[in-house]
Amino acid sequence: MSNDKFFGAHVSANGGVFNAPLNAVKIGAKAFALFTKNQRQWAAKPYDKEIIEKTVEEIREKVKAEEKVICALSGGIDSTVTALLVHKAIGDRLIPVFVNNGVLRKNEPEEVLNLMGSLGLKVHYVDESKTFLERLKGVTDPEKKRKIIGETFIEVFEREAKKFEGVKYLAQGTLYPDVIESVSFRGPSATIKTHHNVGGLPERMNLKLIEPLRELFKDEVREIAKVLGLPKKVIWRQPFPGPGLAIRILGEVTEEKLNILREADAIVTEEMLNSGWYYKVWQSFAVLLPVRTVGVMGDYRTYEYVIAIRCVESQDAMTADWVKLPYDLLNRIANRIINEVKGVNRVVYDISSKPPATIEWE
Ligand code: XMP
Repeated sequence: MSNDKFFGAHVSANGGVFNAPLNAVKIGAKAFALFTKNQRQWAAKPYDKEIIEKTVEEIREKVKAEEKVICALSGGIDSTVTALLVHKAIGDRLIPVFVNNGVLRKNEPEEVLNLMGSLGLKVHYVDESKTFLERLKGVTDPEKKRKIIGETFIEVFEREAKKFEGVKYLAQGTLYPDVIESVSFRGPSATIKTHHNVGGLPERMNLKLIEPLRELFKDEVREIAKVLGLPKKVIWRQPFPGPGLAIRILGEVTEEKLNILREADAIVTEEMLNSGWYYKVWQSFAVLLPVRTVGVMGDYRTYEYVIAIRCVESQDAMTADWVKLPYDLLNRIANRIINEVKGVNRVVYDISSKPPATIEWE
């Protein structure tokens, strides 16, 4: 047996890697990671407070008195915990940056800023929504949308960072599974949709990295978040893609469509939260389809957009199943969207699993 077979990575003649063996490698890596995690938990429990103290101490030793650290906030748990740990270590020499990319959800900028303020972080807020939306004008290809949003984000972030003197580090919320996955196992599945995070930024900006969550799993980060006093809504927030609502508006992104989707999505989230289902599923959201259908409202014929509801359960987003939500919940969501959101006269429920469908529609 050759070495590559032993490791499960069969490289084909054109250099591509077959999916099944790749998955075997991934599963192997995951099992190993879980094993080390269990070992660690047995060895030292409870250790959340210790981890916090140790990490804060390490950051304090690393960053010299005249140096500053910058980080990008998304409102999610990883970047928030990262920022809080760095802030504990060096106070306001941390510059947390929050960029409004124009494709955020209803009230999201306000909510993120309020939360960060309540946690004592002085956020550098940049509303660049006009620039993003201008660049997205006329663009319908999903990958082009991702590319535009990713590149514009990097451009904005780089420009903003230059406004501060002494910035030597970039803090990132990289988790242990990200570290393992990025070693050498990235396969064809990673290229189905390109994910633009802040990759490439540290080299470009000549910054050193601080990754306080590098050795942690998501559930450990959640434990730390609890100790740091983050609210349940943030600790258990569902994943939200970097390109935001742009990949949930099929086709061109316009202000009109953004407004429709924001309202519909807010209803989905509100009903999921009220019914308790929000915390039981991996993701639940609305998608705006680029078609209009005929309906009737009172004595009038309507010709308006369709909203699709997507709700999936999953362990790691590699595979996913659609959730069998109760009919009365689906009914309430659909009625509210049709009655309350101007421009929508039909709601459908997505009953596709991944694979072959992906979680996001674009
Ligand atoms: P898919 O649609 O590929 O999504 O089944 C898997 C998970 O990844 C999220 N997702 C993204 N996250 N940038 C991100 O940061 C992206 O471009 C992107 N596309 C998908 C998706 O929400 C799901 O959790």
